[in-house]
Amino acid sequence: MMRLLFVCLGNICRSPTAEAVFRLRAREAGLEVEVESAGTGAWHIGAPPDERASAAGLAQGYDLSALRARQVVADDYDQFDLLLAMDHDNLETLRSQAPGKAHDRVRLFLSFDPGLGRESVPDPYYGGEGGFEEVLDLIEAASDGLIAHLKSIG
Ligand code: 4NP
Repeated sequence: MMRLLFVCLGNICRSPTAEAVFRLRAREAGLEVEVESAGTGAWHIGAPPDERASAAGLAQGYDLSALRARQVVADDYDQFDLLLAMDHDNLETLRSQAPGKAHDRVRLFLSFDPGLGRESVPDPYYGGEGGFEEVLDLIEAASDGLIAHLKSIG
């Protein structure tokens, strides 16, 4: 089965949102896939998602309550078929750590919806509530693009 890892900096805002959104939308689309998320940083290991991310997700039907933050580990480059970076910083960190054979598995998440005209999910941590809704919109769009891609390659 295809295994996907969503990656941001803290693993409390963007990537847990992506994990919950992708898991539900993939299930609704009939795509069997295993989904996790992780952060490149260590600050929030073991913590639940940011309350603002949880509230924004719940308002759109996504339950983040069971998720707990973890950091990316070396084994992830073996265990996952795709490591989906939320922004260029995350992408560079992952690519700098990835063994050569895993390099191509590290991708910008938003590249799966080119119609967005955006490359990065902005970090909402230090912003206002509206940032979390924008994050959710971008993640929903890229999730549907990635689901369509994965279904097309069977
Ligand atoms: P995330 O947001 O990467 O979307 O989870 C952040 C959460 C925490 C921090 C930075 C970004 N932080 O610096 O603690």
